[in-house]
Amino acid sequence: MEAIKKLKPPKTPPKEVEAITKNVEVKKNEFWGWCVLASFLALLVISCGVYTLVKLFPNFLPHNKPGPNRPGPIARNYADALGIAFQFFDVQRSGKLVNNRISWRGDSALRDGSDRNLDLSKGLYDAGDNVKFGFPMAFTATLLSWAILEYGERMAAVEQLGQAQDSLKWITDFLINAHPSPNELYVQVGDPDLDHECWERPEGMSERRPAAQVNASFPGSDVAAEVAAAMASASLVFKKIDPDYSFTLRTNAEELFAFADLYRGAYSVSIPQVKKFYNSTGYGDELLWAASWLYYATRDPSYLKYLTVINGDVFGNWGDPSWFSWDDKHAGTQVI
Ligand SMILES: *[C@@H]1O[C@H](CO)[C@@H](O)[C@H](O)[C@H]1NC(C)=O
Ligand SMILES: *[C@@H]1O[C@H](CO)[C@@H](O)[C@H](O)[C@H]1NC(C)=O
Repeated sequence: MEAIKKLKPPKTPPKEVEAITKNVEVKKNEFWGWCVLASFLALLVISCGVYTLVKLFPNFLPHNKPGPNRPGPIARNYADALGIAFQFFDVQRSGKLVNNRISWRGDSALRDGSDRNLDLSKGLYDAGDNVKFGFPMAFTATLLSWAILEYGERMAAVEQLGQAQDSLKWITDFLINAHPSPNELYVQVGDPDLDHECWERPEGMSERRPAAQVNASFPGSDVAAEVAAAMASASLVFKKIDPDYSFTLRTNAEELFAFADLYRGAYSVSIPQVKKFYNSTGYGDELLWAASWLYYATRDPSYLKYLTVINGDVFGNWGDPSWFSWDDKHAGTQVI
């Protein structure tokens, strides 16, 4: 600028220049004033618009859109439903309750298994009755493990994962105690006929609570394999959070699978009293189901071979999956 001034001296006298400059400055200030006012009005209009949109369409804002770690309003409803559903596992608990969240439940069945020098106090009651049926209980544990392995991150995002793991452990603690020696598994606690004569709270029951077992002479490949599947899948759930517990589950699962496979038979034949309640129509599906979970838990190729060669053909029921239930695991095995 200095250089230009020197080259071209101003033609207008200094006084006039001053007046012009002042006029320009006044205009400039006015201009900025209008700008600020206009911006303020624009901001007001936009804010009102956005507020109205958000009120009318609550899902409009990006932060309300569900994401893996950010449940939206609908996801929050499902999260609440999941929390309520998980209460079922709390309500059904047998034994000495810890961190009990159900105000109307208390300790019960503390002496279950004591006539066999075992602690079979934990686990879950089946339904409205107070019997602990091992076959469906183990299947419940396997499915809970599968759900955690598949959706654990989502459960964590809505603060339900700890609850799911606790419920699973309440069952697997029982299953570990129900397997006191390699070829022995307790599959039921309580006498269903006696139990069904009286509808009562487990906290107040006084009937005999006999424990029934399968063993080498009276085998139960279905129930033993289902318990093996429950333990193998649960060992994957606890692998990182409790490696010792996971190891215990895995070794118990391998032992039970060997027992189930070596001494073949349906538990409904060995213990006819279970027929009326949870009759098992076959054990081939449970053997495959357990071998599948054991393959995932151990990565031992012998389980894969067990599944895919002879037994896969004999037990697989390929192309004809029926319903998936505590009795029939074909569909689940085929998915895995
Ligand atoms: C094996 O199981 C059967 C059926 O539960 C039972 O009657 C029998 O006493 C058991 N055998 C032993 C040695 O415990
Ligand atoms: C009960 O289980 C046995 C043994 O697996 C089977 O032979 C029988 O058909 C089953 N009964 C019913 C009613 O499903």
